Amino acid sequence: MSSARPIEVERLTRRFGDFVADDAVSFSVEPGEIYGLLGPNGAGKTTLIRMVTTLLPPTSGTARVVGHDVVRAKSAVRRRIGTVSQAQTTDENLTVRENLAVQGKMYGLWGRTLRERIEHRLKQVGLWERRDQIARHLSGGMRRRLEIARGVLHRPSVLFLDEPTTGLDPQSRRAIWDMFGELRAHDPELAIILTTHAMEEADHLCHRVAILDQGKLLCEDSPATLKRNLATGERVELETDRPIGEEDRRGIAEEGASDVVFASPTRVSFAARPGEATGRRVARLLEIEGYHIVHLTIALATLEDVFFSYTGRALREPPPAA
Ligand SMILES: Nc1ncnc2c1ncn2[C@@H]1O[C@H](COP(=O)(O)OP(=O)(O)OP(=O)(O)O)[C@@H](O)[C@H]1O
Ligand SMILES: [Mg+2]
Repeated sequence: MSSARPIEVERLTRRFGDFVADDAVSFSVEPGEIYGLLGPNGAGKTTLIRMVTTLLPPTSGTARVVGHDVVRAKSAVRRRIGTVSQAQTTDENLTVRENLAVQGKMYGLWGRTLRERIEHRLKQVGLWERRDQIARHLSGGMRRRLEIARGVLHRPSVLFLDEPTTGLDPQSRRAIWDMFGELRAHDPELAIILTTHAMEEADHLCHRVAILDQGKLLCEDSPATLKRNLATGERVELETDRPIGEEDRRGIAEEGASDVVFASPTRVSFAARPGEATGRRVARLLEIEGYHIVHLTIALATLEDVFFSYTGRALREPPPAA
């Protein structure tokens, strides 16, 4: 067995004419890791996945899947990956089981092995009872689960999912999260790379996430680390029983508070770096000075705060055509 990483991407670039959809993107994914690609519409996530899954040739840079180059060793790469694309790819007129059989045969599976694999995967995604149902009659959530079963039928090393939960209800979304756990329990080495616009999903599922915007990879780390490193990652609101004096106001800033706002003489709010207990230290300082703290709330940063801090709030809309 090769010890190559599931994914190694180095300065991968894709241009469409003058437009740069992905600009020297580098990252790697470890065995067993769930890696999330986040980014506004048009950031270049799907283009990146299409290159790494051999569907689109890169303009420059390299990508390797379990050591195989995506340009020079296309078919080796294709055998090692499973994909669930942003577009719906189920054959509507086949049954659930037939959809998987077609896929299995494409990978050289047949006979008893194929039957057993199909049963195993359909049970994993909770569709075994519906094996003879025509795919057209499945709900959106079931269809997505069928696509995932199909993506892992040939036991890939890496599973790519482009927005696997977009458009699903909260129950179906949770069911898919649970399925990832199920898949990884069965195959702890399976690397999963997914894109999503749902920040709580990325936070909940991914070991690491990368934020991509306008083709550039802006940051990459675990959700916890990204939140902790956010300079304004904690928002503190504090109210005292009497007006806060001039000297104590200066004291608050010296404790590491930033963006300090006095909403009234007795109320102050400020941002602070998470994990430094700035809110509690400021409250202590004021108590030592004889104030009574009437109210204290400390709100922690979310991955969405991190996302906005890197990408801003402006809509990604091109100007209307002339
Ligand atoms: N074949 C193509 N020809 C020209 N431009 C393209 C092509 N494919 C993608 N693009 C452009 O590249 C940019 C990145 O597109 P991509 O689909 O990778 O974004 P995305 O991050 O997946 O967005 P979304 O979140 O909306 O799915 C977009 O501006 C898109 O219009
Ligand atoms: Mg996309």
